[in-house]
Amino acid sequence: MLHHYFILLMLLLIATTTLTTSLSQKQAELDAVTRFQQYLRINTAHPNPDYSAPVSYLNGLAKSIPNLRTRTLYLTPNKPLLLVTLYGSKPLLPSILLNSHMDSVPAEPAKWSHPPFSAVKTDYSAPVSYLNDLANSIPNLRTRTLYLTPNKPLLLVTLYGSKPLLPSILLNSHMDSVPAEPAKWSHPPFSAVKTEDGKIFARGAQDDKCIAIQYLEALRNIMEEDPFFKPVRTVHICYVPDEEIGGFDGMAKFVESDEFKEMNVGFFLDEGQASTNDKYRVFYADRSPWNLVIKAVGVPGHGSRMYDNSAMENLMKSVEVVSKFRENQFDLVKAGVLPNSEVISANPVYLKAGTPSGDGNFAMNMQPSEAEAGYDVRLPPTVDPDLLKKRIAEEWAPATRNMTYHIIEKGPLRDYLGRPLMTATNESNPWWAVLKNAIEVSGGELSKPEMLASTTDAKYLRQLGIPALGFSPMKNTPILLHDHNEYLKDTVVFGRNKGIRVHHQIIEFL
Ligand SMILES: *[C@@H]1O[C@H](CO)[C@@H](O)[C@H](O)[C@H]1NC(C)=O
Ligand SMILES: *[C@@H]1O[C@H](CO)[C@@H](O)[C@H](O)[C@H]1NC(C)=O
Repeated sequence: MLHHYFILLMLLLIATTTLTTSLSQKQAELDAVTRFQQYLRINTAHPNPDYSAPVSYLNGLAKSIPNLRTRTLYLTPNKPLLLVTLYGSKPLLPSILLNSHMDSVPAEPAKWSHPPFSAVKTDYSAPVSYLNDLANSIPNLRTRTLYLTPNKPLLLVTLYGSKPLLPSILLNSHMDSVPAEPAKWSHPPFSAVKTEDGKIFARGAQDDKCIAIQYLEALRNIMEEDPFFKPVRTVHICYVPDEEIGGFDGMAKFVESDEFKEMNVGFFLDEGQASTNDKYRVFYADRSPWNLVIKAVGVPGHGSRMYDNSAMENLMKSVEVVSKFRENQFDLVKAGVLPNSEVISANPVYLKAGTPSGDGNFAMNMQPSEAEAGYDVRLPPTVDPDLLKKRIAEEWAPATRNMTYHIIEKGPLRDYLGRPLMTATNESNPWWAVLKNAIEVSGGELSKPEMLASTTDAKYLRQLGIPALGFSPMKNTPILLHDHNEYLKDTVVFGRNKGIRVHHQIIEFL
């Protein structure tokens, strides 16, 4: 009997061990698959393969394996070659060379069932790895990578101050960019071609990879001037994912994290916009986006009949009312009463109605029973959102006309105390004076602070009551964010007394 129990116990033990082994083996397989996907997501297709990203990725991967040595050779500029070596116990014997090319043939995205580099979602591992290496090449910077959302890392770079208990400074840059249509660009949008007159063409050049690099290069310059430099307050830089799609998996989660709370952030500096003249622009508020859908229902009927209250008629009445409102707001802008960013915009983005006829068209002799319209609505923090809701309920989608509406608020409108999301730009905000001074000392001049017509991650900080300003020092530059042929001139950022110098001064003064 005892003997049987013993065998049973042994069997159980073996089974458990096998189970644990197979579980950790399974995990290892999953991890390897993830790394394969990450590598696939790096677009190295011709004609313009970006070799820095795969080299950086593979280099990081090789370094995560014990005993491997890596070297990067630049036999041709911009075409690095990565060499990974595991030394043998008899290094004088002929060695083994395993080869893999990093480029791939082009793909025609339109003909694929999934985007060809999309094991994509946006690939954040490459920029995090790149920026991490860049930060680590500067003395005294500490880096941490936070995974608040799987596959969406956030890189945190820190320079500790001499008085670490004082509120810290947080400089922000988002790593993502909006898409680009390569066929409409004069240079491939991710090739960062620099023309003879110094224009660097790339999606993200203005929005907002310029500040990403300026923060670090300003710190590098500071350290080169004074290797013992220590700011009074701790300075953090965060590189966040997903700003262009609302920041829900990026800044919104970050400000909720323990890491953020421990940072005790006193002042936040984020992206701004280019200025077409000689003065820098600074932004103290964003407009908040609403996605508004208005929907009408009505009795359906034959296309030949005239009757009241069809869904189409009900919707069209609303479309006219909204258009009139939009026109009035736009008139204020045209008359110079208010800037674009301080009125409510309500732009129609889609119309949906009709009875499908089955062949991809619509039944032309049928008045449909439902019709809807979608609007991109933007509210400056100066307006009362409840008043606009009342207007929507009473005039844009009145129940008396059998209409309903749905609003998706894409972000907060008021801070935790119910105040409009605006950062003061007067003496009531001590950070403002320091920022202004830093800009002036570096030879720059500021234009009147503005609201931003669109929205940024700064709203999440303002919501917590933390002063937050948008500032990308680019002057005498056309505003090209989200446009074809987005570019930025080298001297605007790296020239004497230019963007980088301004950030240098800001870090030293704050
Ligand atoms: C609203 O719908 C009801 C029920 O279908 C209909 O009787 C009424 O005429 C409609 N009113 C308007 C203004 O569309
Ligand atoms: C500073 O600006 C804020 C916000 O615009 C305003 O409420 C406040 O009254 C101003 N304070 C002073 C001292 O001007």
